[in-house]
Amino acid sequence: MTDNRSPLLYRPPAPVPLSPLVSLLRVLTSQPRSLLGLVPKEAYTEMVTPLGYSRRGILLVNDPEITRTILTNPLEHFPKNDLMVGALEPLVGESIFVSDGAAWRRQRQMVEPAFSHMGIARAFRWMREAVDDYEAHLDGVAAGGEAFSLDAAMSHLTADIICRTIFSKSLEIGTARDVFTSFAEFERSVASVDLYQLIVGKPWSKVRQPDHVLSACERIRAHIDALLAPALEAGAPKAGGGILEHAGGDRLAEARGDIVADLVAARDATTGEGFTRKELIDQIGVFFLAGHETTASVMTWAFFILSQRPEVVERMRAEIDAVVGSGEVELAHVKKLEFTRDVFREALRLYPPITFIPRVAAEDTQIGRYRAKKGTMIMIAPWTTHRHHALWPHPDRFDPDRFMRDEIIPGSYMPFGLGPRICVGAAFATIESGLMLARLVRRYDFEAIAPEEVKPVARLTTRPASEIMMRVRRRG
Ligand code: HEM
Repeated sequence: MTDNRSPLLYRPPAPVPLSPLVSLLRVLTSQPRSLLGLVPKEAYTEMVTPLGYSRRGILLVNDPEITRTILTNPLEHFPKNDLMVGALEPLVGESIFVSDGAAWRRQRQMVEPAFSHMGIARAFRWMREAVDDYEAHLDGVAAGGEAFSLDAAMSHLTADIICRTIFSKSLEIGTARDVFTSFAEFERSVASVDLYQLIVGKPWSKVRQPDHVLSACERIRAHIDALLAPALEAGAPKAGGGILEHAGGDRLAEARGDIVADLVAARDATTGEGFTRKELIDQIGVFFLAGHETTASVMTWAFFILSQRPEVVERMRAEIDAVVGSGEVELAHVKKLEFTRDVFREALRLYPPITFIPRVAAEDTQIGRYRAKKGTMIMIAPWTTHRHHALWPHPDRFDPDRFMRDEIIPGSYMPFGLGPRICVGAAFATIESGLMLARLVRRYDFEAIAPEEVKPVARLTTRPASEIMMRVRRRG
C-alpha cells in the first residue's frame, strides 16, 4: 500500500510476502503467473532459502559472501542455468549471454571494445537523436492530453536507442512493428514456460518453445540478418571455411561508428578470426534483447515512482538546471548529474530488471548450511537481496540518498551482476538512463492513472503486471 503524503512513508509497490505454501497457491491461482509471487517471506530475512516445492532443488541466495563466491568462481563450477539458456537460445543462439567456459571468454574479449568509453561516447549521439524524436512524439501526446502506456513507451524508446546504436539507423516502421510483435510473443512464452518448468522440470531437461514462438524468433533473426548485410559488404567480407574475414575492419568501425562495425572488426586474440555471420546474428540478438528490455524495465519503474514523488522531481530539476542550464544535455553533463544517478540506482535496487540471476551447481556442493546436489538451481536473487532486512535500513522505502551515505554492503547490490560476467552494457545503460531521465523530467510532468493498481511481476524482466497508464503535460 503506498502512502503519497510523506516522502519517508512512501513504499513503492511490491507483493506481500507470504508463507511458502500460500505463496505456491497464490502463484498457481493468479494471472499473470510470476516468480515474485512464489518468493516466501523468509527469503527477505534469511541468507539462503530453499524453495521446497519444485522437482529439482532450488536455493535462493541473498548472502553477499556466497553471492560473490558463486558469481566470481571459475565459470565451470556454477554455469548458466540450463532452463534460461534453453529459453533464450531460439533468439540469441550461443551468444555471450548464454555461453560458458572458453566459448564465453572468447566472445567477451571480442565484444568488450564496442562498450568501451569511446564506444559509449559515439553511442551518445544516437541516444540523443532517439530522445529528440521521442520528445517530438510526446509533445503531440501531451498536447492532445492522451493517456499512454508507460511500459510500451519505454520499450519503444530503448529499442530505438539500441537499434540506432547497433546499426546507426532507426528501424523502418514495418520492420520495427514486426520485431516488436515477434518479441512480445517470445517474451510472453518464455516467462510462462520458465515458471512451469521451474516447478515441475528435471535438471537439464530439454524444453522446447512452442512453434509460433520459434517462428517469431526466426523472423527477428531474419531482420537482423538483413540489417547486417551493408556492414558486411562495407567490410569486404571474404568467406573462408565458414569464417568471414573482413579487410579493413578497424577502418570500417571508425567510418560507421556503430556496434555492428565493432563486431565485424572484432578478432579472436588467439586465432585472429572474426565472428561468423551466424555468430554476429547471435550477438546482435542478445544486444537487442539485453540492451532494451532491461533499461525499459528500470525506466518504467523510475518514471512511475517519480509520478508519485514530486519532491524528488523538484530536486532533479534543480540539479539539471544547475549542471546543464537551458542548453543541450551533453555526455559530460549526464556524468555530473549525481542525484539523478542515485534515483536511477535506487530504482534499480527496488526493481532490478534481472530479478534473479540463475546458475546451476555443476557438482554436489555446500551453499551456506545447505547441501546442494548436482543440478540444484542456485538463484542469486537481486530482488530479495536488495530488499533484505539485514542488509538495508528500511529496505522497502524509495530513498535515493542512501547511495550518498556509507551503507552499501559489498555483494548486497548487484543490478548488473558481479564478477567476470558483470553486464557488459552497464556503463551504456547508466548513461542512456541518465539522459532519458534528465531530458524527460526537465520537459514534462508525469501523472500516473490508477497508481494504486500497479504491481510488479517477474517475467523476462521485472515489469508491472499490467500496463501503467500515464498522462504528461509540458512544463511551463
Ligand atoms: C539497466 C539496464 C541493464 C541491467 C539491469 C542489466 C543487467 C545485467 C545482468 C544482471 C547481467 C548478468 C547476468 C548473469 O550474470 O547471468 C547482464 C549481462 C549482460 N548484459 Fe546487461 N543489463 C542492462 C543493460 C544492458 C545493455 C544496455 C546491454 C547491451 C547493449 C547489455 C548487455 C549484456 C550482455 C551482453 C550480458 C552478458 C555478459 C556476459 O555474460 O559476459 N545489458 N546484464
